[in-house]
Amino acid sequence: MAILDTQVFKAIEYLEQGELVAIPTETVYGLAANAFNENAVANIFKVKNRPSFDPLIVHSSSLNKAVDFTQTISDETWKLAEAFCPGPITFIIKKNSKISDLVTAGHDTVGIRIPRHPLTQLLLESLDFPLAAPSANPFGFVSPTTAQHVEDQLGNKIPLILDGGPATVGVESTIVDTSEAEIKILRLGGLALEEIEETLNRKIDHIQTSSSSPKAPGMLTSHYSPGCPLILGPIKWDELEKNEPIGLLYFGGKPKVLNNIVPFGLSESSLLEEAAQNLFKGLRFFANQKVSKVYAEKLPEIGLGRAINDRLIRAATKITSA
Ligand code: TXA
Ligand code: MG
Repeated sequence: MAILDTQVFKAIEYLEQGELVAIPTETVYGLAANAFNENAVANIFKVKNRPSFDPLIVHSSSLNKAVDFTQTISDETWKLAEAFCPGPITFIIKKNSKISDLVTAGHDTVGIRIPRHPLTQLLLESLDFPLAAPSANPFGFVSPTTAQHVEDQLGNKIPLILDGGPATVGVESTIVDTSEAEIKILRLGGLALEEIEETLNRKIDHIQTSSSSPKAPGMLTSHYSPGCPLILGPIKWDELEKNEPIGLLYFGGKPKVLNNIVPFGLSESSLLEEAAQNLFKGLRFFANQKVSKVYAEKLPEIGLGRAINDRLIRAATKITSA
């Protein structure tokens, strides 16, 4: 514990000086900076190579604290926060002038998230400013679920990675737009749609992955690529190439595979939570395997299966524009 405290103490120092620190959350690791310091926020875009039109989520230790930099927070937002915060949900809320346009890419709303990871909770409680933090990966790549993933891609660009172990949820937060009268899900994620609907006692609209002009500006198709084409099933076993190494991302029992197939199991016991934890590890695994392509099949479209399918569809989308 003493060592962890030292790391949190160092993180506090860097963040107060306007430096970037990678932080653990239960969804994925974030690349954090003082949300009230424009230079620090600008540095996030630079280090991630992220286009300035893509707004950042602001992290706080409680929704109560976010009252300071937002306008009215609706009753349903409070209800969802009570049920799920801290946890894998982000609320889109009208901002006030304390949040700069740089953070929100000019939008009049801001994404607010209360992460559940104890180290980051401790960090947020110790700071007197919230943390702007996108996922800690270069723009367009797979989100990191371990400190090592961050080290591999951004290690030489930031002074500290706070290691909180592997992410327990494994896919990014569910984004819920509560800024208008009609609540909408902008990104399927670590909190299942069904849980939100149950709490609000009604059906909620969610944006389909195929949307060509996503409401969450960073939800472009063609993200999450494993570094080679990903072909989303059903897999035609007799048509598979037999001479080149190809990847197979599978869910459930291990299939009988050919010699040239490099398999990665998401969850042999068919658990969606376990599959979510392993998804980004799997996509990264193939990037290091020199396979020419990866075959995958969609998971059941329920619970976290929806968020996993959303990422698989994006991973399977060819990059057609810059
Ligand atoms: O689980 C997560 O949400 C992680 C951890 C680190 O908290 N963060 C994360 O951030 O995934 P990022 O930047 O990789 O994805 C945030 C998404 C982007 O697609 C962005 O466009 C959208 O949220 N977003 C942020 N602010 C928004 C706003 N005001 N209106 C609509 N979409 C917004
Ligand atoms: Mg991201």
